[in-house]
Amino acid sequence: MLFKVWIVFVVVSLILKCDGIAESAQCSDCTDFKQCPGIQDFISKKASDSMKRFRDAICYFDRQNPRSYGVKVCCSMLQEVENRPTPQQIDLLPDRCGEINQDRIIGTEKVLPFDFTWLAVFNTTRTPKSHCTGSIINSKYILTAADCVKDVEVRTVRVGEYDLNTDLDCIGYGPEIDCSHHTDMDVEAIIVHEGFQWNSREHNIALIRLKSPINFKDDLDTLCLPKATKIQELSITNKRGLMVGWGNHESVLLKSYISVTNDTYCDNHYPRSAALRKHTLCALNMSKNSSCMDAGSPLIIPTKYGDYPRYVQYGILHSSICISPFRLYTDVASYMGWIAQNLLE
Ligand SMILES: *[C@@H]1O[C@H](CO)[C@@H](O)[C@H](O)[C@H]1NC(C)=O
Ligand SMILES: *[C@@H]1O[C@H](CO)[C@@H](O)[C@H](O)[C@H]1NC(C)=O
Ligand SMILES: *[C@@H]1O[C@H](CO)[C@@H](O)[C@H](O)[C@H]1NC(C)=O
Ligand SMILES: *[C@@H]1O[C@H](CO)[C@@H](O)[C@H](O)[C@H]1NC(C)=O
Repeated sequence: MLFKVWIVFVVVSLILKCDGIAESAQCSDCTDFKQCPGIQDFISKKASDSMKRFRDAICYFDRQNPRSYGVKVCCSMLQEVENRPTPQQIDLLPDRCGEINQDRIIGTEKVLPFDFTWLAVFNTTRTPKSHCTGSIINSKYILTAADCVKDVEVRTVRVGEYDLNTDLDCIGYGPEIDCSHHTDMDVEAIIVHEGFQWNSREHNIALIRLKSPINFKDDLDTLCLPKATKIQELSITNKRGLMVGWGNHESVLLKSYISVTNDTYCDNHYPRSAALRKHTLCALNMSKNSSCMDAGSPLIIPTKYGDYPRYVQYGILHSSICISPFRLYTDVASYMGWIAQNLLE
């Protein structure tokens, strides 16, 4: 009974408040909202953004006869894990992260050892042989794409790497020389998003938990994630960022500049289901000789984080064939709840 009252309340307020209901959602499961599986859970949670999410999911609205409650929604858009991190878990992500080496942000495409100290690289047992990239988000976890780790074995993850073909990666001359030596870390567990689908690439996100914690030194750091709500809500459309990874043909770490596109532009180049659209973003390569990055590579945007600009990871590259400059990324901000919920001490 209580449930019914709530539903009526939600719908009536929708109708009264929103002359401007857009009916913009598109999906293959546009259904009378009362029939959506899990609708009861969705509404009973009364999360502060339920109303907005409900409104965004509306795919049909009977304007002529509003009192009939003839509202249809994309059920798939209402049905996912609650994206609300618990404070304790989100605090496992450090605030000291993503330090920007001011000298080297702008300009060349060339990357030097120590420029990006929060990357990880690992071999997968998939054939043809390939490697994937991930990012260090705290001392025990690497964030990567589900299509890198699902159904394959990953025994170790390498941190502090620059040139895959050399043991020591050095900069400087004579007494000023500074070298970084990679470390192979043993993997304890791989956590793939429970909703990940090979075909659609929905929920293409995974975490790798290391057996022992990373010992942070000069050549190792963590990358920032959009931890604060304010940063999650920042519009990054048309923002310029960086993509960092090894690519699949080079041995040395690469970076290329990218620009995040708007959704319309993205949809025209890359048709996405409603569910995929909600959790992905697209970016265009802006670098003349950008190569194909490997799956799991982070899309980062320098963002004010606390008091300083820091590198914040907004995307995870999906594996793809590099035929166009267009790339699809998992939208990290929309998975902060999932990430936090899956972190252990
Ligand atoms: C870009 O191309 C130039 C010339 O071919 C090459 O020397 C340079 O290493 C390339 N940069 C990257 C990041 O691949
Ligand atoms: C990947 O495998 C190759 C060949 O076994 C090995 O030489 C290389 O060190 C491995 N790389 C990483 C990052 O583990
Ligand atoms: C999206 O981006 C394209 C290309 O930059 C631009 O032409 C178009 O006007 C943009 N659309 C919206 C709705 O901003
Ligand atoms: C990236 O974009 C440039 C043009 O801006 C193009 O010349 C280059 O081929 C693109 N690289 C890839 C890998 O798509």
